[in-house]
Amino acid sequence: MDNVKKIHKSDISAFLKFLDFLNEGIIVIDHDRNILYMNNYIENLLGISNGEGKHFSEVVKNNYLYSIISHEYSSDVQEEIIINDKKFLVKIYHIDDKKFIHLTDITPFELYKQAKKDFVANVSHELKTPIAVLKGVIETLNQEENDPAKKKFLNIAEKRIDQMNSLINDLLIIARLESKEDKLIKKKIKLKGLVNSIYEDLAPIAEEKNVKFFNKIPENFSIFADESKISILLKNLIENAIKYNKEDGTVQINGYEERKFSIIEVTDTGIGIPKESLPLIFERFYRVDKSRSRNIGGTGLGLSIVKHIVEAHKGKLEVKSEINKGSTFIVKIPRK
Ligand SMILES: Nc1ncnc2c1ncn2[C@@H]1O[C@H](COP(=O)(O)OP(=O)(O)O)[C@@H](O)[C@H]1O
Ligand SMILES: [Mg+2]
Repeated sequence: MDNVKKIHKSDISAFLKFLDFLNEGIIVIDHDRNILYMNNYIENLLGISNGEGKHFSEVVKNNYLYSIISHEYSSDVQEEIIINDKKFLVKIYHIDDKKFIHLTDITPFELYKQAKKDFVANVSHELKTPIAVLKGVIETLNQEENDPAKKKFLNIAEKRIDQMNSLINDLLIIARLESKEDKLIKKKIKLKGLVNSIYEDLAPIAEEKNVKFFNKIPENFSIFADESKISILLKNLIENAIKYNKEDGTVQINGYEERKFSIIEVTDTGIGIPKESLPLIFERFYRVDKSRSRNIGGTGLGLSIVKHIVEAHKGKLEVKSEINKGSTFIVKIPRK
């Protein structure tokens, strides 16, 4: 607050004029929500003039803005709201007994984010067909080839094509989850059978490592969710539980209800996740051990997809892990 003292009283009016030049909104209200100050930008945005001295409710007709500002927050807050088709970041600072409300137009940033998403979705979509064709060609060549040296190269090519295919499939899943048109189609899903059918596809990689799979979900346990998305979620969690397991390890799935949530737990006896990596594993492309992960195969996108699906259901996602003992991923989906 020392800086404040350096501004002379006669500078204040110049300072207020300066605030009118800003391309962001500033409102100051007192404890009783009377408006002490608003700059030009906010007056233009909300279509008001001479708001100062009036009560906030008289002047601000935007319900959402009104509700976040009226809330008795004890600490400083930050929210996003839409006014006149533009998206604003609203920050509220409490200084002495006043609230300083600061609005920044983040529409350009949102448009940029959307353009980036569209680009990734389009590129992935365009790559899908050529890669499928390549895979067909290489597979045919490989089947007809008898020379072991040439077969070795064709096998490498096939493996790499499979990797690209997984990456593109994961990117397309993310693009679909992020698209505005994407809606959840919720229904009652009987989980035990769904888990069994997902495991069928993953059984070969479990058998390679002699990993045993236990589906402990009760016969009549069901959740209310989007079946195709929950399938993607389960596939990713079970696949990880197998891939990052040890030889002769186990994977166990449980399902139960706890107050407002249906809970699914996927537990493995694998390599575990270091503490410092736990906050990062849900980030796109993050993999704990890059060199080892490369051999294991994967895209680094699986858990970010899982997180996305849980959030779309307004659920919660937790993980417990201990190095060399194993990990448990806990998915909580709200009950009906
Ligand atoms: N069950 C697990 N046990 C140990 N590590 C895991 C487990 N699940 C995920 N991880 C770690 O988190 C990283 C990110 O997982 P994910 O997003 O599914 O990507 P991917 O499996 O393609 O590498 C993995 O590379 C791995 O290091
Ligand atoms: Mg994975």
